[in-house]
Amino acid sequence: MAQYVFTMNRVGKVVPPKRQILKDISLSFFPGAKIGLLGLNGAGKSTVLKIMAGLDREIEGEATPMPGIKIGYLAQEPQLDPGHSVREAVEEGVGEILSAKTRLDEVYAAYAEPDADFDKLAAEQEKLEKLLATADVASLEAQLEIAADALRLPPWDARIEKLSGGREAPRGPVPPAALEARHAAAR
Ligand SMILES: Nc1ncnc2c1ncn2[C@@H]1O[C@H](COP(=O)(O)OP(=O)(O)OP(=O)(O)O)[C@@H](O)[C@H]1O
Ligand SMILES: [Mg+2]
Repeated sequence: MAQYVFTMNRVGKVVPPKRQILKDISLSFFPGAKIGLLGLNGAGKSTVLKIMAGLDREIEGEATPMPGIKIGYLAQEPQLDPGHSVREAVEEGVGEILSAKTRLDEVYAAYAEPDADFDKLAAEQEKLEKLLATADVASLEAQLEIAADALRLPPWDARIEKLSGGREAPRGPVPPAALEARHAAAR
């Protein structure tokens, strides 16, 4: 049997006051598939994605990820710290990897300490190296650049509070032309 990365079985969602926005959704996703979800405004696309990300668990039916799988989720209206730069906002998403990298350097350095506990350090080193190996940390910088380009992000050092839509996020859909203009102005 195929190993699906995610399975939804008869998923439904009722929002207040008793409005059924999703009903009997049964879907299975193959590894490596790139899938777009289309629907009119308010059809329930974001709701499906929140259910798949595990953010919305108050549902009918079952939504089951493959055990051990890691799910990424980019919110339609992300909550960003206005004091951050674009780079810092993006780094929040890979914070675990970056702090593991910093900690691993500290562990390497700690071997040289006169009272170093080699067993303890070796155990921590192994754990951190394992985490970093799966994260493909060597290409992390390149991955961030590719993501920034694909998402048409402003320059890394731009402050979130200065970006249009940063503090007062526009409600409703932003026309693609407006995104382009913002991009061009920020570069
Ligand atoms: N927690 C909630 N309480 C009440 N209504 C909700 C809730 N969550 C979603 N809804 C409503 O359910 C419907 C589906 O919302 P959802 O955000 O999933 O739609 P969407 O397809 O992503 O829309 P858009 O294209 O505007 O992004 C909308 O009418 C929304 O107002
Ligand atoms: Mg949406």
